Amino acid sequence: MQRLFISVNCDDKVKKQLISVQEKIKAQSVKGSFSLPENLHLTLIFIGETPEDKIQLIASIIENALKPPFDPFTLNFSTTGCFTHSNKELWWIGVDRNDTCLNTLKTIRRRIADGLYSEDINFDNRPFNPHITLGREVKHDTPIIIPKQNIMYPVNRVSLMKSERIRGILTYTEIYGVAIRSPQIMGDDSKSIPSAMISRTKGLSF
Ligand code: 2AM
Repeated sequence: MQRLFISVNCDDKVKKQLISVQEKIKAQSVKGSFSLPENLHLTLIFIGETPEDKIQLIASIIENALKPPFDPFTLNFSTTGCFTHSNKELWWIGVDRNDTCLNTLKTIRRRIADGLYSEDINFDNRPFNPHITLGREVKHDTPIIIPKQNIMYPVNRVSLMKSERIRGILTYTEIYGVAIRSPQIMGDDSKSIPSAMISRTKGLSF
């Protein structure tokens, strides 16, 4: 069994900006468990414990969900806030609610969810709340105030990830990735080239 989720991962430039928001939260808190830089990501769908023989099927569901062509797009992460559960605060940064690309992200998520559903693969089907977790169990004495951000987050690949503890450290590893490629940059004969190309990744941490 593997603990799986589907995510959009970010490049180092975005990571640096997310870390700087994390630093602002840390500076105003007395305690917290902050996501490691390599673990910062946007979850599309949490699948959870899954038999290994389902992985290939899930990979093709992602590939199919990205056809017909979606062009790569960019999300604007602007708002920082927290979810409170059992008196514990989970701090996140979310997509600007006026971001027109949010609908594209939701469409991609819905198509993957439909594919999983039709293949009887269980997943967390709670309402989608696109966010990046920055810190958990954050405690603070005075209110945390984070100014509006303008973090441009490119979406050009959807990843199937496994989550595990390695020597006690929460580690996320991409096991399959599907690139979202613009047909225009793939040459004139774009019809014969799929816009989403699947690639197996060899245990790369993102
Ligand atoms: P979170 O950061 O908001 O906790 C891997 O666990 C990823 O899947 C995390 O980004 C986590 O989101 C997300 N996730 C969504 N639903 C989950 C669930 N029911 N259990 C664990 N992780 C979940």
